[in-house]
Amino acid sequence: MQLADRISRLGTEEAFAVLARAKQAEREGRDMIHMEIGDTDFNTPKAIVDGAVEALQSNKTKYLPSAGLMELREGLAKKLSKSRGVDVLPEEVVITPGGKPMIFYTILSTINEGDEVIYPNPGFPTYESVINFTGGKAVALEMKGESGFNFDVEELKKIANEKTKLIIINSPQNPTGGILTRESLEAIAEIAKKYDAWVFADEVYSEMVFDGEFESILSIPGMRERTIVLDAYTKTYSMSGWRVGYGMCPNKEFASVITNLINNSVSCAPNFTQWGALAAIDNPEVDAEVAAMREEFKKRRDVLFAGLENLEGVACHLPAGAIYLFPDITGTGRSSNDVYNFVFDKANVAILPGTSFGRFGEGYVRMSFANNSIERIEEAIERMAKVWPELIG
Ligand SMILES: Cc1ncc(COP(=O)(O)O)c(C=O)c1O
Repeated sequence: MQLADRISRLGTEEAFAVLARAKQAEREGRDMIHMEIGDTDFNTPKAIVDGAVEALQSNKTKYLPSAGLMELREGLAKKLSKSRGVDVLPEEVVITPGGKPMIFYTILSTINEGDEVIYPNPGFPTYESVINFTGGKAVALEMKGESGFNFDVEELKKIANEKTKLIIINSPQNPTGGILTRESLEAIAEIAKKYDAWVFADEVYSEMVFDGEFESILSIPGMRERTIVLDAYTKTYSMSGWRVGYGMCPNKEFASVITNLINNSVSCAPNFTQWGALAAIDNPEVDAEVAAMREEFKKRRDVLFAGLENLEGVACHLPAGAIYLFPDITGTGRSSNDVYNFVFDKANVAILPGTSFGRFGEGYVRMSFANNSIERIEEAIERMAKVWPELIG
């Protein structure tokens, strides 16, 4: 029995493997602190839960059109028009089960064998995985720690060329927490126009900015027609298990292509979760809950940052957005994988090696600060500090 060749080119998001490992350790009686997966411990806002429960009770449990519930597409078109400063039609918005499918569908729709795709590395692992899977050429743009993970425009200019078909950007960025400045966005836009490339803007952390302002590449003239935006309910509303994401397409034709991929793969995103999602639109109570979460995450970020500063061999950059710290651990003299395994085994704290985010992640580990209370984060730091001398040797 032989599998298709393309399967060997598919990567994985290792956070799920480490989550499974940590859950198994818990079943064996260990008290694990979860910092591996990018998740939040807040309840989903009540209005959203109520909206979904009401939908379930009124039998909104059947198929929907593949592109999603029209009321939700209309609501999101309005929300996106306002937040991104462009006119968005409901027919250009598609609802997907979580945000990830939009990565898959966009790369499948735009990339032929051999086309080049520029993507951030370290970066969200699904980009590189799906580029390779589809036969595209994955061209890594290194996110450099020494420059505070600022986007390196000069490097982008060097690697972009006539074969560049798609540029993937992610701001605020997973795993580094970096945000793209207006100047960087303008430079990326310039290059995309020069080579007539699509831009995929992964904006799932757009509402998780702690310092500075979120800016979308959409707001730059000429980018609306070549940019696909991904956003999701996952992080913003603490809804990772609900699976509600959405894409904003450059035009209706592009949206039809994505809709047909939804049709062929999952038929449609679940019905009642979309009614829940609709309850968040234009709802000041939900907005207040999101703002409170953001405030709390900022405090947690600062506590974890301060704690890591005291560990020998660790140098940390304070992230402006998203929900992760990405400390440099080269000063410990150990590899990313060693540090991850050591912390898991000796401190019962689940984190990720930086290499889960690509080859340029070596020398780092990623820790999510959104999953635990401040007390629990302090405990994680204490546990690590206690065993650290053994790691340093
Ligand atoms: C940058 C980025 N894009 C997309 C996703 C996928 O989100 P979802 O869980 O909605 O599929 C994540 C999840 O961690 C992410 O960090």
